[in-house]
Amino acid sequence: MSTTSSVVAGSALPGGRVVDSTNPARLHEVVGSVAFADADAFVAGAQAARKAQEAWAAVPAPVRGRAIAHIGRLVEDNAEALARLVTDEIGKPYAEALGEVREIVDTCDFFLGEGRRLYGQTIPSEMSDKQLFTFRKPVGAVAVITAGNFPVAVPSWYIIPALLAGNTVLWKPAEYSAVVSGAFHELFVRGGGLPDGVFNIVHADGAATSEGLTRALEDGLVDKVGFTGSSPVGREIGALTGRHLQTACLELGGKNPLVVTPGADLDLAVEGALFSGFGTAGQRCTSLGTVIVHAEVHEEFLRRFDAAVAAGRVGDPRQDVLMGPLLDAKFAERYEEYLTWLQPHHRVRGAQGRITAENPRAGFVGDPAAGLFYHPVVVDGVRPGDRVFDEETFGPLVGVTTYRSLGEAVELANAPGYGLSSAIYTDDAREAFTFRDRIGTGMVSINNSTSGAEAHLPFGGNGKSGNGSRQSGIWVLDQFTRWQSVNWDYSGRLQKAQMDTVELVPDITFRLPG
Ligand code: UN1
Repeated sequence: MSTTSSVVAGSALPGGRVVDSTNPARLHEVVGSVAFADADAFVAGAQAARKAQEAWAAVPAPVRGRAIAHIGRLVEDNAEALARLVTDEIGKPYAEALGEVREIVDTCDFFLGEGRRLYGQTIPSEMSDKQLFTFRKPVGAVAVITAGNFPVAVPSWYIIPALLAGNTVLWKPAEYSAVVSGAFHELFVRGGGLPDGVFNIVHADGAATSEGLTRALEDGLVDKVGFTGSSPVGREIGALTGRHLQTACLELGGKNPLVVTPGADLDLAVEGALFSGFGTAGQRCTSLGTVIVHAEVHEEFLRRFDAAVAAGRVGDPRQDVLMGPLLDAKFAERYEEYLTWLQPHHRVRGAQGRITAENPRAGFVGDPAAGLFYHPVVVDGVRPGDRVFDEETFGPLVGVTTYRSLGEAVELANAPGYGLSSAIYTDDAREAFTFRDRIGTGMVSINNSTSGAEAHLPFGGNGKSGNGSRQSGIWVLDQFTRWQSVNWDYSGRLQKAQMDTVELVPDITFRLPG
């Protein structure tokens, strides 16, 4: 088995601490080994990106667009192999893993054409013989640091538009998804025919990354940081980049609410809650946090939701299951801590904790002892002030609370202070649009789950979910380009703006007769 290493300026970096990456569904199975580099390697990656940037920006944008087209084609042709690797390294059920790979292709499909647009504008001047223009310029060398719950789709949201717009990239993927990240990097470099240094990858732990990023910023090697991960680390990165007068693109946690109104189609709401609560074992940033259900339909919703959760297949992610294992031991440990937040006033439906022979799950697919498998948990009676209500609980745990007026539902939905995604199930347009107007999230679903954003709509959050940056579609271009305004005076003399303008004199005292 070959070792996945960092690749800087086209060459694999030798040495480093070698660690096995294991399959969370079969802990005895090694997916591959990874050599972790130090802070020097991170700085070297940033240097390589910096050095390659000018030449990459000089490649015509339509040619860069062709590179994106070829990357998309190569990813599509390798979709099954890449999805299998996602499933094996982080335990995402195969159907979802294939969807994740599709999201890379969708992003390539969108941006391949952008290479022939990247529009600027022509704007009339207030003086004659003068023209105004705008141009989009690449930001420069970009450092992208990503989580492993979407080990290939989410990185592609940064890397594809960044490259298309003429930036170079240093990518630091999650430690627990290093092998699939290596495969992604190779597909991109080979598919795009990317020159050395245009797309670098460095595998490093949190401490080396933090030191490396700090030094790279101090040395002026990084012009933009993209980060997907927890809100506390996002705050650190926001503070660090702020000191260098930079605005990071931050995609952070969520505590995503799903409101069920009295007129909702309850079966549809249950289906949406099941997918967004337990898809990717509740480890999406868009995963459902709390169901906020109207008192009138509370009992009936819970009855149907309990039945759906009980019937959901849990187990081997290579099979057709609702839910596989947790991503990695670190996430399993943290999830066990979230379970200790439950209090006597919480009504836990069904079993909780690790699935074992002593704590079994009916219909489990495969051998629960082999991996990091947990019971999906629904907790009724959560309320503001409870940690399970206020904080993100990354993993298969869904809270339920009750409301009586739409105003109260919105207040509960906004209370945790995140603002990524939300959903409302209703048959009433007024309810839907009042909710849309008053909810603080960047993304709102009406009669659809909190997960499953399409790859060409703005993606991002407010409050603790980010700093207002948006990814995807045309909106992400504002992250990876800066506007340059140009004025061109061909009058042959100095025409002073605001001073040398022609004035038309109106007759404002004129009145119609009568
Ligand atoms: C994430 O969890 O970081 O909307 C991204 C969704 C996916 C992306 C999630 N398309 O659930």
